[in-house]
Amino acid sequence: MIRSLTMGLCALSFAACGAMAHPNEGGHGSTVAALPVGTCMNMGNMLEPAQEGSWGGAPIVAADFARIGAAGFDTVRIPVRWHNKTSQEAPWTVDEAWMDRVQTVVDQALAADLNVILNSHHFDPIHEDPLAVAQWHGAVWKQIAERFAGYPEDTLWFELENEPHGQFDHSNLLATLTPALEAVRATHPTRAVIVGGENWSGIDSLATLPLPDDPNVHPTFHYYDPFVFTHQGAGWVGPDIPPPGRTFPTKEDRAQLAEDVEKVRAYVARTGKTPFMGETGAYDRHISTADRAAYHRTVREAFAPTGIGMCVWAYANTFPFWDRDSGEWLPGMRASLGLAEED
Ligand code: GLC
Repeated sequence: MIRSLTMGLCALSFAACGAMAHPNEGGHGSTVAALPVGTCMNMGNMLEPAQEGSWGGAPIVAADFARIGAAGFDTVRIPVRWHNKTSQEAPWTVDEAWMDRVQTVVDQALAADLNVILNSHHFDPIHEDPLAVAQWHGAVWKQIAERFAGYPEDTLWFELENEPHGQFDHSNLLATLTPALEAVRATHPTRAVIVGGENWSGIDSLATLPLPDDPNVHPTFHYYDPFVFTHQGAGWVGPDIPPPGRTFPTKEDRAQLAEDVEKVRAYVARTGKTPFMGETGAYDRHISTADRAAYHRTVREAFAPTGIGMCVWAYANTFPFWDRDSGEWLPGMRASLGLAEED
């Protein structure tokens, strides 16, 4: 998860390559309306493990969305693992029970008047051999698109793949996502589609993020900076697990945050598109709730003048806002997002 800049290259096999607004062209003719993400909650670690429930926690139920809506959130992002729920060769049929389960959860969220970002998360093979896996990934999106035909466009949005990393980078991003985008566009010509960049979609990926020439494709990035603070003691990021004890913000952290906000401003000025922060958060194992709340407040207040939406990580099963044991929102976490603390 160390982020470095790689220059984006227009993938040769991408049909729309010539028409694409290349990130390095500079300037833009018009400004595209931002997705109204607003204040957004990730339903993290729920539908994204290999099997629902296998990372602990509890399954999503309708009451979760009612609670999230009542707290004042506008949007939920629902991370879903698909690659192990399909047949292993064309036409890569998605297990019907899984598609039904995802549809039930999306329906519950929409019924609670929340906007929904439905994604593909942890499609592991795509990060190892992106172009070889692109048709499989596209076949999954064809089935998702078919299942959600007729759903409201203003409140259900598709995010093609979470956090490209490994071999999946800006040199092949568009070519890899083309089958998925074409599958979605065949039945949803104008629905919002979301694309994040290489290196785990860190903020520096915005500078070279290639997007297709499509006004309804929206950019996203993730913000866990400084990573040595937010992921201290996080075993899953090994082998270099940041040691516990790092505090936030240092003087350097404040300067970095201000620079990062400028990166968003520069992106909007250059492309006319407003990205949103699809994930941000701090791991609770070694960081107190008060310090986690302070992190969220600091990040939110810094980026607020840009007008971007922000999705916090996460509801209850990891980096929690809602405490299952006590049946309460953790103190100060909603206030850190500018929401009321009363129930
Ligand atoms: C990414 C991972 C998710 C993890 C989170 C925080 O979204 O996909 O599994 O919990 O980042 O590290």
